[in-house]
Parts: sequence; structure tokens; C-alpha cells
Amino acid sequence: MPKQRNQKNRNNKKNVNIKPGKNFSRILGTKDVTVKDFDNWEIVKNNITDFLHRYGFKQIETPILEKAELFKSSFRNNDPKEFYSFISDKKEKVVLRPELTQGILRAYQEYNLEEEMPHPVRLFSVGPVFRQEKLQNGRYRQFNQVNAEVIGEDKPVSEVLLMVTAYNMFKDLGLNVEVQINSLGDKDCQKEYKNKLTAFYKERGKRSKLCNSCKKLLEKDPLALLDCKEKECMEIRKDAPQIADFLSEDSREHFSKVVEYLDELDIRYNFDPYLVRGLSYYNDTVFEIWPLDEKENAQFRYSLGGGGRYDNLVEKLGNKATPAVGMAIGLERALTKIKEQGLILFPKPYNLIFIAQISEQAKIKSLQIFEELRKEGYNVRHSFATNSLKTQLEEAKELDARLSLIIGKKELNDDTILLRDMDSGVQEIIPQKKIKSDINKKLK
Ligand code: HAM
Repeated sequence: MPKQRNQKNRNNKKNVNIKPGKNFSRILGTKDVTVKDFDNWEIVKNNITDFLHRYGFKQIETPILEKAELFKSSFRNNDPKEFYSFISDKKEKVVLRPELTQGILRAYQEYNLEEEMPHPVRLFSVGPVFRQEKLQNGRYRQFNQVNAEVIGEDKPVSEVLLMVTAYNMFKDLGLNVEVQINSLGDKDCQKEYKNKLTAFYKERGKRSKLCNSCKKLLEKDPLALLDCKEKECMEIRKDAPQIADFLSEDSREHFSKVVEYLDELDIRYNFDPYLVRGLSYYNDTVFEIWPLDEKENAQFRYSLGGGGRYDNLVEKLGNKATPAVGMAIGLERALTKIKEQGLILFPKPYNLIFIAQISEQAKIKSLQIFEELRKEGYNVRHSFATNSLKTQLEEAKELDARLSLIIGKKELNDDTILLRDMDSGVQEIIPQKKIKSDINKKLK
């Protein structure tokens, strides 16, 4: 009978039909925010978003799923393998967004935000993005960005606003950074420069030394070769022509204003003539935020943020021609740097009161007291699932509680409670009616 067989199987371990344990692990290129990291993660995220609010940006949330077409001309090598995509039931190619910019621009158009919001439209968004990239340290396939856009402003002050915001927000988090800047000029200068660059890379002996990806990209997008991190390609790049020599009068003037403002605002920056960025929609100013590693043991160097001007993208996405600038900050990288530099952000809780209980009945009473104090605005914590007083007091210490309130059978019967000063260890019995006034005295 099946019932009996089941019973037998349960009793005889050898017969139990369980497949060998499979340990599930994270998908390569993804990251958990563990319990240990969560507080700092939230602080970094909130600090950055708070900064953007203060600088006049409004928050917007767009879906993770977008039409693939929206990202058609964003990525340098535009390799569809880099996107996570699928065909929907509506026979549309859908992607897990590889960046937040296009979603924001789509929403800008869809909700006519140009009319709805003050000019220039300043929007920001926070959330996960997905890129099926080559795996490397500090490079994930799912990661989180805080992304800000200024839409409708062609003056250099708008890209400076973004650089200053990023620079100061990292400073505020305790990280020293430097802004790498360059100008990619307008469409015409880029055209001339690209021809020069192609000719340079085609010179005898250079092409054969390029990595396979650069060889393929040479005809399609020579600027992409400047972004390559392969040793040999970087070596060749040292002699490559620089776009600074091809800038039009307007682009030159625009860029010199950017530099002038950065000087005036005391922002630490470095001119990198080969900075082109991994995305293909930029013109004129491009920038990246790099950490200045004071500590020798800093393991990895990578940009914490990046962005630039993109005066043609809004139009390419079907809207009227609108100048714009934007940037994004990688939250995982920011947090890694903060940890690497030993910066602890999680503030010690202020005037925390821990409520401990001994016995089942005391749990109910302490829950009532907890709720009363919480409603009154006291910073209270508890550990109701724990029975041992020792463990509860250890937790109170770990939380850096100022006071503990302990309630057991005796206190329940007497309508009293034990008030323990966590610094001195001194305990006193107080009537339950006087809890608030006695706490207030202690916390003064
Ligand atoms: P992005 O340079 O591709 O720019 O990314 C911005 C930041 O996201 C990087 O500086 C880095 O901190 C982080 N990041 C990028 N890729 C990865 C990765 N694979 N793993 C971990 N972190 C990463 C953009 O995304 C543009 N949408 C910025 C922008 C907005 N331009 C104009 N508007």
C-alpha cells in the first residue's frame, strides 16, 4: 500500500528518494545586498537621492522592461548579445533595460513633461539595470544605478551641475574622487576625427596588433577603440590623434566654459583626451567620476559614475530636437569603494531603548509597552522571539542601546519594570506607570 511504503521510506534513510543536494548560488555577475551590508546600502542610496532632491531633481520610476528598439543606437558596439532580451506575446522584442536614460526620455515624451515641469526638466531614477557583459571585478550583469538627466538646456552650466552634484555627493560620503573630462565635439568634428582615427589605426603594423573586438569595430566605430582596456590597444592609443585638435569653434568655446566653471567651483578634474565613454550617443562634454585611492591596497580601479551631453538622442527617440545631459552612478561600486576605504556610514542609533522579557506572559506585556513607547516617538527595539535574558542583553549591547527595560514574572505581578542603564549597568525597579517620566530623566 502506498501509505506503508511512504512510512517505510521515511524510516529508512537509504531509501529516501531525495536527489543529491544541489547548492543554488547566485547567477554569475549578480550580487546580493546582505543583511550586513543593507544599512550602508540604504545610506549610500538615500544620501545620493537626497542630494539630487536638493539640487532640484524630481524622481521618476520607469519599468525594467522596455522595447528593445529604444536602445537601438545606445551602445558602442551595439552587440545584441549584451542585452537580456526576449520576444513578448505581442511579438515585440523586449529587453531588461541596460540603462535608465532611455526609459526616462520615453516617459518625458509620453507624459509631455516638457510642458508639465519647470525648465530645464530635471529628472532622476534609481533601480537595477542589466548588461550581459564580460565578467570582471567590479563589473556586474545586474547592478543598480542612480541616474539623473537635465533635459532642454544647451548651456555648459547643466553638465557642470551634474559634475558638481556627483563630486560633492561622493565627498559627502567620505570618498575622494576626481572628474575625468573630455569633449567629443559636435557631429561634424566627430566625423572628421573618426576619419583621422581610422587612418591612424590602419597604418602599417597597428591593425594586426589590435584585439579582435577592436579589429571588428575599426570600420564601424573607430571611437570605440579608444575605450578598449586591452593592454596592446591602450599602448597603440598613446600615439592616436586627439579630438581636441578637431573641435569646432562652438565646441571649443563650450568646453572651455565647462573647464572655467569647474575651476571656479574648485572641483578636482583631469583632462583625458581619450575619454569617449562606452555609450555612443554623446557629443561635446563627456565625464567620468573616478575614485582617488589613498590606500595602496585599493584592489580595483573603476569609474563610480559617468555621463555627458547628448543633444541628438531625444530627437532620435522621436521627440523634437532637444539638448540634454545626464549621468549615472553605480551603487554597487560606490558601496565597494566605501567598504574598501574603511568608511563606516551606519550611524549609531540615538537614545535607543531595548525591551527585554522573561516568560511568555511578560512577552505580551512587553509588546504593549513597546507599542506605547514606539507611538510616542521613542527609539525602541526588542527581541521577542528570544527567551534567554543574556542573549537579549547581548543584542541590546550590540545595538548600542542606552537603556534596557526588563520585565519578568515578578515585575508582571508587581506592575513594575526593571530599568537598566546600559553604560553603568545600574538597575532600578520602577513602577510601570512611571516608565516614560523615568526614561526621560535618564535620557536628558
Ligand atoms: P555608464 O558609464 O554605462 O553610463 O554607467 C554609469 C555607471 O554605472 C558607471 O560609472 C559604473 O559606476 C556603473 N556601471 C556601469 N556598468 C557597470 C557594471 N557592469 N557593473 C557595475 N557597475 C556598472 C550610463 O549608464 C549612462 N546611462 C549615463 C548617462 C545618463 N548618460 C547620460 N545620461
